[in-house]
Amino acid sequence: MRKTIVAGNWKMNGSTLMTKKIIIGTMARLWDVDFNENLEVVFIPPFIYIPIASDLVKDSRYEIGAQNMYFEDKGAFTGEIAPDMLKDFDVKYVVLGHSERRHIFGESNEMVAKKVKKAVEKELVPILCVGETLEEREEGKTWDVIREQLETALSQFDTLPEIVIAYEPVWAIGTGKAATKEDAEEVISKIRSWIKEKFGTDEVSILYGGSVKPANVENFASSQEIDGALVGGASLKPEDFAIIVKTFVGRG
Ligand code: 13P
Repeated sequence: MRKTIVAGNWKMNGSTLMTKKIIIGTMARLWDVDFNENLEVVFIPPFIYIPIASDLVKDSRYEIGAQNMYFEDKGAFTGEIAPDMLKDFDVKYVVLGHSERRHIFGESNEMVAKKVKKAVEKELVPILCVGETLEEREEGKTWDVIREQLETALSQFDTLPEIVIAYEPVWAIGTGKAATKEDAEEVISKIRSWIKEKFGTDEVSILYGGSVKPANVENFASSQEIDGALVGGASLKPEDFAIIVKTFVGRG
């Protein structure tokens, strides 16, 4: 099912106090939002704050996501987090293949594919991130790069698993320079057509991410192609994050 999903990826930011402030502050501002079955609002804190976050959203319609996980069940993998550990704290979503993981920590398409497979096996919902660098865009390789990212991560499935895709152009992340509505729509509709051709269905939520903020969210929320947003910096400010959620909720 295509849901509207607004997810806040806090990246390596936060503290115990900030976790409480962000979550309680966001919930307080969204008290009158109608959470029908089509809307998901997700907090994605650093691993160490997941237990607190999970406690705060207990018995609410809000969901918790993780920023990463490893593809093994357990064992000698110092510093890694296993899928069952996330499930232990009621985590529903896991961001996989974020451009910061790919570019700073060297995660390959193959590693992302293993993580996606394991997440699906464990009934976590991957938020699979895809996107091109500025150089790749300027060389006209945007779709080639994204198709390869999709192919490696999803060709291992015969039917489309429960998954969310986030189109995050690398040049738009943390730069304040968001993609235009048209650029985002073009890539997202190509992703949807690729999924449809491969799996015979396009019932998948595809989000845009990269410098989404109150000042530009209307661009993305007004598009029928774009099912929501993966928000970085603005998700740390409850007043901004709440505006972003409300803009998606209020679209026609
Ligand atoms: P910013 O919204 O800070 O550009 O980050 C986007 C992002 O990477 C979300 O995963």
